[in-house]
Amino acid sequence: MELDLKDKVVLITGAARGIGLETAGCFAAEGAKLMLVDRDETALAAAASQIEGSGCIAADLTADGAADAIIQKTVDTFGRIDVLINNAGISEPAPIAGTSPESWRKVMAVNLDAVYLLSRAAMPALGRSKGAIVSLASFAGKRGTLFGDNTSYSTSKAGVIGFTRALAIEAAKVDVRVNAVAPGPVATELIKALTPEQLKRVTDYVPLGRMAEPREIAELIVFLSSARATYITGEVVNVNGGLYMD
Ligand SMILES: NC(=O)c1ccc[n+]([C@@H]2O[C@H](COP(=O)([O-])OP(=O)(O)OC[C@H]3O[C@@H](n4cnc5c(N)ncnc54)[C@H](O)[C@@H]3O)[C@@H](O)[C@H]2O)c1
Repeated sequence: MELDLKDKVVLITGAARGIGLETAGCFAAEGAKLMLVDRDETALAAAASQIEGSGCIAADLTADGAADAIIQKTVDTFGRIDVLINNAGISEPAPIAGTSPESWRKVMAVNLDAVYLLSRAAMPALGRSKGAIVSLASFAGKRGTLFGDNTSYSTSKAGVIGFTRALAIEAAKVDVRVNAVAPGPVATELIKALTPEQLKRVTDYVPLGRMAEPREIAELIVFLSSARATYITGEVVNVNGGLYMD
């Protein structure tokens, strides 16, 4: 089953570690050309050195003009964009009374605004290549988190789900597919913000009894971006060990 990703140009945000880095490795294994984006310059340089022929852009997605500059640099470097993976995300868990407006806006800026800004900037190039967008939502955007109060994170991921569905209909007019994945807990740095007690509740809640490995999310992202998924758009695919079903 050919994924047909050879020489496709794939832009991945938050690519320096975790799900983003794993996804970059999976695309590279299929012969895709990668542009890796992250705010962590050192980790990004290490990631880019692992992936032959990749480009990288050190940038904070929340900086003014960052999204437009990233898309422009990718087109200048590779001449096209076939796939945009909106993966960068943050979590600042806190009860609502302890969530400052600054923290709320920061979570929205990274998890939701950057998805909109990058998708907007990439759409002309994606329209030319009849490409695809895959964004990282979360089970937490569908049912609220189970492992600690985190309203800002859940709200941002619910926003990604609405964005994906709405843009899928619009982008279908130019043959661009727009999907999201909704992981349950995945063994990455992000989840280290949880206390050991909360981590135990994770495995207690998940029917498969464990967190996902980043590879288990990355392979779904690659599939949704590929020629094997040409009739899938507007979907938010659960990959959560049975934690939540809809
Ligand atoms: N780990 C989980 O359990 C889980 C579950 C569901 C969804 N997700 C989502 O998957 C995505 C990846 O998560 P992960 O677990 O690999 O996270 P991670 O924290 O391991 O990696 C995130 C990467 O994004 C980068 N990043 C963060 N803010 C940025 C910014 N403003 N500009 C540029 N880069 C920035 C970080 O430097 C980091 O390299 C996120 O959107 C996350 O919300 C994760």
